[in-house]
Amino acid sequence: MSVQYGAISWNRQKKFYDLTLVSLLAAYLGIFVGIGIWRNPNATAETLLIRGFATAAFLSLHVVLCIGPLCRLDRRFLPLLYNRRHLGVTTFILGLAHGVFGLIQFHALGNVNPLLSLFVSNTRYRSLADFPFQALGFFALIILFLLAATSHDFWLRNLSAPTWKRLHMLVYVAYALLVGHVTLGALQSEPSPLLTTALILGVVILVSLHLAAAFREKRVDGTKLQALKDGFVEVCKVDLIPEKRATIVSMSGERVAVFRYDGKVSAISNVCQHQNGPLGEGRIIDGCVTCPWHGYQYKPESGAAPAPFKEKVPTFQVRVVDGTVFIAPHPKVPGTYVEPAPVQSMQEPVG
Ligand code: HEM
Ligand code: FES
Repeated sequence: MSVQYGAISWNRQKKFYDLTLVSLLAAYLGIFVGIGIWRNPNATAETLLIRGFATAAFLSLHVVLCIGPLCRLDRRFLPLLYNRRHLGVTTFILGLAHGVFGLIQFHALGNVNPLLSLFVSNTRYRSLADFPFQALGFFALIILFLLAATSHDFWLRNLSAPTWKRLHMLVYVAYALLVGHVTLGALQSEPSPLLTTALILGVVILVSLHLAAAFREKRVDGTKLQALKDGFVEVCKVDLIPEKRATIVSMSGERVAVFRYDGKVSAISNVCQHQNGPLGEGRIIDGCVTCPWHGYQYKPESGAAPAPFKEKVPTFQVRVVDGTVFIAPHPKVPGTYVEPAPVQSMQEPVG
């Protein structure tokens, strides 16, 4: 973890983010219920709340899922990513409110336990028209609960970053379950052009953003680097790397961030130890590479976080010859010091 990250554990920016989020949601629910009463004065408050919480949760899930690709495509979206977990937990709370109201409204009036009733009152799993769509919502809610409950860094540390990441990929399963929940449920029982259009638009926007971000990353990964006589590979002209920033290259499937700073060049793995954030999209602040996602920091020469933090990323040997940067293709053990290459290098050409 970084010094900077420690300092932002609960700061003005987070409070502002949460306050904005709560205000937007309160405004959304108010407008939703207001329009609902205006268009259909006979609608009950429970029905309007069930639908208000449902659509707010689904909308918020779309925003959560769009933030990642948006940040990969344009750095100006990074402030949204900073506290994305708060939005994730909020999505769960909204989904929970909707699910509980739904259970009370549709399953609490009989003599069967509402949760049991959810699964036994309709068992036509083979019918598309009468599919028990609520079960899909229930399983999505369980996934959202798992993700919200493990969202804190405590779990990230205890589960390890790769396991945590794999677990949190379940959000896409939850999304697919919810698309099924809405398509087989609300859209069949009460067809609404607005909900149908919103659902299709949501899916199209999400898929397009993910594809665009994936193509962009594939372009980086697909760029073939030229291997030279002693194994070093050519990266780019040093002038193409802005001061205190990096260029990202891919070697043997591993992304490397090559930073230029204070007349020197260093290369470290592009993958942040926190949540795999792209270090090469960050900047050097106070002499440390600073992850653009949550501010973890690493020294560019050693890939080690500044004391007292313990995170380490692999480093790579670097040369600058006649204004061109070369790096060794194989990473050093995480945290290994590598002498930075001076930008005005007097070394012999390697070709
Ligand atoms: C135990 C879990 C759940 C139950 C029992 C449940 C139940 C229901 C029911 C009965 C409806 C139809 C409501 C109506 O037509 O008035 C509905 C619609 C809907 N649900 Fe769920 N649901 C659950 C979980 C979720 C979750 C987790 C989400 C989103 C994060 C969600 C999103 C939606 C949406 C967007 C609709 C359509 C709302 C509309 O008609 O405007 N549901 N759900
Ligand atoms: S600081 Fe969170 S991913 Fe890097």
